[in-house]
Amino acid sequence: MAPYVIAVTGASAQPIAERAIQLLLRKDSEIELILSKGAYEVWNKEIGITIPVDPKKQEVFWRNRLKESKGRLCCHRWNDHSAAIASGSFKTKGMAIVPCTMGTIGRVSAGFSLDLIERCADVHLKESRKLVVAPRETPWSIIHLRNLTNLAESGATIFPLIPAWYTKPTGLEELIDFLVVRLFDAFDEDLSQINRWEGC
Ligand SMILES: Cc1cc2nc3c(=O)[nH]c(=O)nc-3n(C[C@H](O)[C@H](O)[C@H](O)COP(=O)(O)O)c2cc1C
Repeated sequence: MAPYVIAVTGASAQPIAERAIQLLLRKDSEIELILSKGAYEVWNKEIGITIPVDPKKQEVFWRNRLKESKGRLCCHRWNDHSAAIASGSFKTKGMAIVPCTMGTIGRVSAGFSLDLIERCADVHLKESRKLVVAPRETPWSIIHLRNLTNLAESGATIFPLIPAWYTKPTGLEELIDFLVVRLFDAFDEDLSQINRWEGC
């Protein structure tokens, strides 16, 4: 079974990434996980948690936090360019960058692969594999829009983290689940039950 590459960058939507990891593991999926340097900072500033950088310690951290023993989780350092996922010869189901900063979007759009996330995104585009980019920023400048257009034209799916109200959410958790499930619809993966629009 090929894994998903899940990349989490330093944008203000870490609970969405966390829920995606949890639901994927619950479905017994395989995950190759990369947190950018910025993601650690946002976790610290917004959630007050220091995530271990060491890959083995980080796997234990997620397993304990998410209370999920199923699936396979392989964590990577953001600067580990020798990881298997850095090569196009390593097969994956695709990659999701969730949430994705405008910095990462700019670098991937320019083919400027500084860290492992940018390299993996570059690989997914060159191999014509599914790449879903979930930006979290508002408003968008013309530079953001041009970079996103460039990524869309290169084959990426742009999935802005914008919730819907037609599901009649009763709280934040339902809004988050809606976004996570709709994001993985792009991979034809049904992660959880949500209220889908069925007409009037
Ligand atoms: C608390 C906090 C929240 C941030 N939220 C966002 C955001 O929502 N979107 C964004 O593009 N950048 C955001 N940033 C800025 C990025 O984290 C910063 O540009 C970082 O260098 C991005 O690096 P990365 O793309 O490698 O994660 C935030 C920074 C902090 C400290």
